[in-house]
Amino acid sequence: MSSREVGTRRAFDAAAADFTALGRHLWEPIGAATVAAAGIGEGDRVLDACCGTGASAIPAARAAGAGGVVDAIDLSGPMIGELRRRSADLPQLRAHEADATAWDTGGYDVVQSALGIFFFPDMTDGTERLISRARSGGRAVFTIWRGGSMVAAGRHLGRAVAAVTESAPPPEREPSLIDRVNQADTYTAWLSGRNLSDVDVVVNELRLTMTPEVAWLVVIGSGFRGLLADLEPGAVEQVRERYLDSLRAEGVTELDATTLIGSGTVR
Ligand SMILES: C[S@@+](CC[C@H](N)C(=O)[O-])C[C@H]1O[C@@H](n2cnc3c(N)ncnc32)[C@H](O)[C@@H]1O
Repeated sequence: MSSREVGTRRAFDAAAADFTALGRHLWEPIGAATVAAAGIGEGDRVLDACCGTGASAIPAARAAGAGGVVDAIDLSGPMIGELRRRSADLPQLRAHEADATAWDTGGYDVVQSALGIFFFPDMTDGTERLISRARSGGRAVFTIWRGGSMVAAGRHLGRAVAAVTESAPPPEREPSLIDRVNQADTYTAWLSGRNLSDVDVVVNELRLTMTPEVAWLVVIGSGFRGLLADLEPGAVEQVRERYLDSLRAEGVTELDATTLIGSGTVR
């Protein structure tokens, strides 16, 4: 596992309960829109990759009904534990702690992943592996952030951490594939090269009202939490205060959380 993957796992392991708390504002509306695009029917077999605490896996299990199956997969044990707790009344949802790119069961009617594929060390290879798990004629749905979404929170948090730790602001992330395919037209073109026909990309507009409570949940209930991983509780509290002050000083009252929901039929 690369150091980037270890960082991703640590951030999400620590965030599991707060991830659920942020879910009402962020993950759940995005998960519901992802499931709507997948068109899951009664009795369907579904693979939900990078499931987190179930924002798309739980509505998928409801849509598939008692006669269906949802295999929900996440690398993070705490996320899977939280999902098992939340889905105790849905026996058709089977939660697995595993690497989604190495999952070898196939023949699914639907393969979906909400806000997951850009974490794969090789996004193209990982996505193609997921698509290969669906039956021919099945559906694949992958949701990503539209370019520019969530960045304001990261910028203000980065500044706050740098000020509290008296270090240089974190360097810009190296540009990667996701930065080139994060608009509707480029995402459509990329998905069309992935063994899918009838590719469609929907722009799913979402704006979070940044009350202090929501603004801090955006940090502790998402991958941003990784930036706090090495800080003592006192320093975390200072970061929280600086981050909220910084948002207030710049007049940030809303956060763009728009996603692109890409779907297609598996050839
Ligand atoms: C931003 S969260 C999204 C979770 C969920 N799909 C949702 O929409 O709420 C990304 C999740 O991907 C998981 N993840 C990243 N790489 C993974 C991999 N190779 N296999 C399985 N899960 C992975 C992380 O542990 C994290 O829970």
